[in-house]
Amino acid sequence: MAKPALLITRRVPPDVEARAVRDYDARLNPDDLPRSGADLVRLAQGAAAILCCPAEQLDAATIAALPDSVRVIATFSVGYDHVAVAVASARGIVVCNTPGVLSVATAETAMLLVLAAARRAGEGERLVRSGQWQGWAPTQLLGTQVSGKRLGIFGMGRIGRELARMARAFDMQVHYRDQARLPAELEQGAIFHDSDESFLPGCEVLSLNAPGGESTYHWLNAERIALLPRGAVVVNAARGALVDDAALTAALQSGQVSYGGLDVYDGEPMVNPGYLGLQNVVLLPHLGSATVETRNAMGFLALDGIDAVLAGRTPPNVVS
Ligand code: DGY
Repeated sequence: MAKPALLITRRVPPDVEARAVRDYDARLNPDDLPRSGADLVRLAQGAAAILCCPAEQLDAATIAALPDSVRVIATFSVGYDHVAVAVASARGIVVCNTPGVLSVATAETAMLLVLAAARRAGEGERLVRSGQWQGWAPTQLLGTQVSGKRLGIFGMGRIGRELARMARAFDMQVHYRDQARLPAELEQGAIFHDSDESFLPGCEVLSLNAPGGESTYHWLNAERIALLPRGAVVVNAARGALVDDAALTAALQSGQVSYGGLDVYDGEPMVNPGYLGLQNVVLLPHLGSATVETRNAMGFLALDGIDAVLAGRTPPNVVS
């Protein structure tokens, strides 16, 4: 019996690719070329499934133009703000994601940003590489100690809770803002805030860990930044669109935000040019879940979802 065709939009780890080739007529992307919506529609002709990535926009027009053969779209990510889920559901296409398996790796990246921003690691690295470093000096590149400080987490889902766990090892006091208070076993002593006015003024370090989408679009705007204590550290390993870049770059310039750390960007891979000239912001290229272990687990979970849908089962990781 012929294997169903599976379009994999980008290169995925070798073990994931090997399983896909074993089980499917896998259409790979060995050159790892970015794919436009039109490319996806063309390459998906006759395919039963698409394994896509957050770098592609599967917007309403793209999904509407997909061939009827497509029964499932599995995104190689927990976030699915790049997929027009309602349009897919209306067409009977199941959408799956990869929750859970990337929480630790992404929280590690958030913690990396907290430390790198507060301790000025980007500036330090540039100094050493420039050949201009003159040696240890008592006032050189003084940053902010994060141990013992108050960490505010906006979005206390799986990744936010992992970050809270890691931050406790630094004796950080964890506060969080979310739609509703978590049960005590998930809260683990973190303090819930039901308003920005109560949450933001105490955030010596603020980490954004909420999903993207309309309800969080430009959540960190000038008004909310003004509620932070002067000199706060702000990091974002969630989605770029949570941040109003004009407001954050202005705050990094004025000192209202002393140091920033960004792994994600509104409209990435475009990066707001305002950040590029600032020394007090550490910029990473969306490394959130980028570990070998995690990317393998994400790929396998995405394939589990595709296997289930094509076998007539409901996968656990359905978002539609
Ligand atoms: C996700 O899963 O949404 C991440 O951003 C990908 O690393």
